[in-house]
Amino acid sequence: MIKIDLKGKVVIITGAASGIGHSTAEVFIQAGATVVGLDIHAPSQPLKGAQFLEVNVANSANVGKCINDIIATQGHIDCLVNNAGISKDAPVWKMTESMWDDVIDVNLKGAFNCIHHVASHFRERQLGKIVNVASINGMRGKFGLANYAASKAGIIGLTKAVATELARYHVNVNAVAPGLIATPLVMSMTPEALAKSKSEILLGEPGQPEDVAHTIVFLCSDLAKHITGEIIKIDGGQYI
Ligand SMILES: NC(=O)c1ccc[n+]([C@@H]2O[C@H](COP(=O)([O-])OP(=O)(O)OC[C@H]3O[C@@H](n4cnc5c(N)ncnc54)[C@H](O)[C@@H]3O)[C@@H](O)[C@H]2O)c1
Repeated sequence: MIKIDLKGKVVIITGAASGIGHSTAEVFIQAGATVVGLDIHAPSQPLKGAQFLEVNVANSANVGKCINDIIATQGHIDCLVNNAGISKDAPVWKMTESMWDDVIDVNLKGAFNCIHHVASHFRERQLGKIVNVASINGMRGKFGLANYAASKAGIIGLTKAVATELARYHVNVNAVAPGLIATPLVMSMTPEALAKSKSEILLGEPGQPEDVAHTIVFLCSDLAKHITGEIIKIDGGQYI
């Protein structure tokens, strides 16, 4: 029987208060890991066994302090999941500078900030797993999503670059690229946009947060020890 056992592993998950991040925290806890969620909000539903720290991932100094505090209290960090993300959609001619900046700051710079502050720790320990949450819309683009698609395309480039830098320290760096997943983020879509997205999914239904969570936990396990620099779509065939 194959079992993922992450007892003794300390995992940081950004955006763990809701949706995919919350579900990922639950699955890591089921696998025996110690979970620290970083989020600007308190969790949508209580998460037994997880600790939460309030932080805006876009603020590098605060992220650095948080990561140092976690190393001091937990002793070490084994896995980092960069999941926090927002969307502020508009066609490019209506997209304001602040809509652009906000999405890039959280989705792309937020992931960079966390990787930057944890990288020396991983190098010293000669181990670590990083999983970034991209999107199929960072691969194909989509109407109204110039900022979001650029941030997620950036995540893909960031993943591949950092994979080349950290491989010599035995750190695996990968990304998942979900399609439409039933979370609060997609509830802000217009009914027309939601129906169009659903119609693209070959397997017929939007994914569930745990579909993404299971792949993230797999990528943080020894089962995936020979995978790095990879982007795994989890989209029911929405974009092939
Ligand atoms: N739901 C989908 O269909 C879908 C598809 C592709 C990719 N994604 C990506 O998956 C990730 C999670 O999305 P979700 O659907 O679970 O959304 P969600 O809104 O349910 O959860 C996002 C979490 O990020 C947190 N967050 C937002 N800004 C933050 C900040 N500045 N600092 C710290 N935390 C912050 C929020 O508080 C929230 O808990 C995002 O990166 C999103 O882009 C989602």
